[in-house]
Amino acid sequence: MKQLYWLLCLVFLPLQSQAVDLANGEKLNRSCAMCHGMYVQGAPRPYSPRMAGIDKDYLVKATKEYRDDLRTEITMAYATGHRLMTDRDIEDVSAYMAQVDHLRGVHPIARHTR
Ligand code: HEC
Repeated sequence: MKQLYWLLCLVFLPLQSQAVDLANGEKLNRSCAMCHGMYVQGAPRPYSPRMAGIDKDYLVKATKEYRDDLRTEITMAYATGHRLMTDRDIEDVSAYMAQVDHLRGVHPIARHTR
């Protein structure tokens, strides 16, 4: 029984350490905000799309595609350091964006500390 407990700990430990770091997401989002907006609300076409409230996994996938040159947005490539972003950074900034309430203008960290 004890072995089973330790085995389960080993299996779940990596999952626990995957918790997103919203403070890091907030910091990274500062370089995205000049185009995507302070509340990630975006701007009308052909400018930058809204990403506030969009599914986090979608944002992770899309941002990795930009980083890995599977998608290209030339202005974004030059204006941000997203080419240098780690998987961890992309998870954090995407989680942050996904949780912004752009309609009420509330950032996730403010919401969590209220
Ligand atoms: C210089 C302006 C600019 C900056 C800065 C910028 N973006 Fe973008 N981003 C764009 C534009 C323009 C598009 C739309 C590209 C298109 O339609 O092909 C876009 C699209 C995206 C998309 C795809 C959305 C979708 O629905 O497909 C993601 C994800 C994204 N940006 C993430 C980021 C992240 C994360 C940052 C900050 C690290 C960032 N962007 C910074 C201009 C910018």
